[in-house]
Amino acid sequence: MTQCPVTGAGTQPSETVVLDPLVQDLAGEGARLREAGPVARVELPGGVPCWAVTHHAEARQLLTDARLVKDIGKWGAWRRGEISPSWPLIGLAAPGPSMLTYDGAEHRRLRTLTAQALTPRRVEAMRPVIEEITQRLLDELAESADERGAADLKATFAYELPMSVIAELLGVATNDEPRLRKLYEGFFSSVTPPEEVQQVMTELAEFFTGVLEEKKRNPGDDLTTALLQAAEEGDTLTDEEVLATIQVLVAAGHETTISLIVNAVRALLTHPEQLSAVLAGDVSWDSVIEEVLRWDAPTTHVLIRFATEDVEVGDTVIGEGDALIIAYGAIGRDEAQHGSDAAEFVSTRSPNRHISFGYGPHVCPGAPLSRLEARVALPALFARFPDMVLGVPASELRNKPAVTQNELQALPVLLHGAKEGLATA
Ligand code: HEM
Repeated sequence: MTQCPVTGAGTQPSETVVLDPLVQDLAGEGARLREAGPVARVELPGGVPCWAVTHHAEARQLLTDARLVKDIGKWGAWRRGEISPSWPLIGLAAPGPSMLTYDGAEHRRLRTLTAQALTPRRVEAMRPVIEEITQRLLDELAESADERGAADLKATFAYELPMSVIAELLGVATNDEPRLRKLYEGFFSSVTPPEEVQQVMTELAEFFTGVLEEKKRNPGDDLTTALLQAAEEGDTLTDEEVLATIQVLVAAGHETTISLIVNAVRALLTHPEQLSAVLAGDVSWDSVIEEVLRWDAPTTHVLIRFATEDVEVGDTVIGEGDALIIAYGAIGRDEAQHGSDAAEFVSTRSPNRHISFGYGPHVCPGAPLSRLEARVALPALFARFPDMVLGVPASELRNKPAVTQNELQALPVLLHGAKEGLATA
């Protein structure tokens, strides 16, 4: 039996993997997590002990186990006052009352309207808007490049697309997007000083309250208005819940989709033979996108869950009151699920049953939207810039310091190819 990280119960403690707040070697950390066992002991930045599920089969088991809940009140360490409310990652444990933090019937009530708005059919109706935004951003990308064709694909293209699409979905004014961008950068960073975390959360709440008030005065054809009208018509959602829902949609749908696009471009530029196969039509874009989601999962670790009673997984016991994170980054490369080449990027992989959008009741309702964004953005990008290469060796690319997100700080590219040619790996 493995030792419980919080209560100390049990024997034979396995290695504790200390998660690196600077995210300097994500693949190495993922491998260490899997080696530490399907349910590994980890230390979150700030010295907070936690469990992490690191293998695919056990993750599916735990993501459908009703004894693991989102209510921070069930966290033993929190109840004992061992976790500071200003812990920089508190937003992961207690992101405010929304579908993210409820379970059972309450969760379904909060999730239904949003899930209905994001079905593949509804989302498909957004395709023309996504195509239009993509073309505008491609023009801006070309304009942003210097005389060598050097540009930051993340800042000028990948960053802008998901924010513009979510803003469109929610009816947020386009000129408010830069402020949102700045706030979310602070929110997701594991190196944001504790004293600034509360300030960022307060400013985010103020921002979205402003959006809600504007929609009450000027209803539109958007999800915020739909949620507000549902709130008015019955007791489906309170104003506070509508506010939390739109905050969650931006937080959950923005950085993740940026990473999907950025990680896909990086994967293809570092595997030119696979890029050629896609451009020749021998491999589908859908297949590429699923492989990027598996191999380079946009969310590295997702939200903390808490055990309402002892939960046995193999020879490990997640003790009552313990916290658990889902290590999606590690899970995507689990050999038991994906085979001995799980660490390789293989765009033709089939079957490819990853769980990078989660599993069970909290499975991502935004999956169809982000898949569509990538499906529109990637072919359009490579059609416009078929000779694009990385602007720096891949080994020089750095992740943002955020333990939840697998997101590069920047993706320098040369839009029209490199004269001298740069190493791709
Ligand atoms: C590539 C892009 C995306 C990835 C990898 C991703 C990943 C995930 C994962 C892993 C979860 C499960 C969290 C858990 O188990 O606690 C989740 C939940 C969620 N995602 Fe996404 N997501 C993406 C895009 C989006 C988009 C575009 C939206 C909205 C427009 C969105 C909205 C949500 C919401 C609201 C939840 C919470 C669902 C619930 O708790 O019931 N996501 N996402």
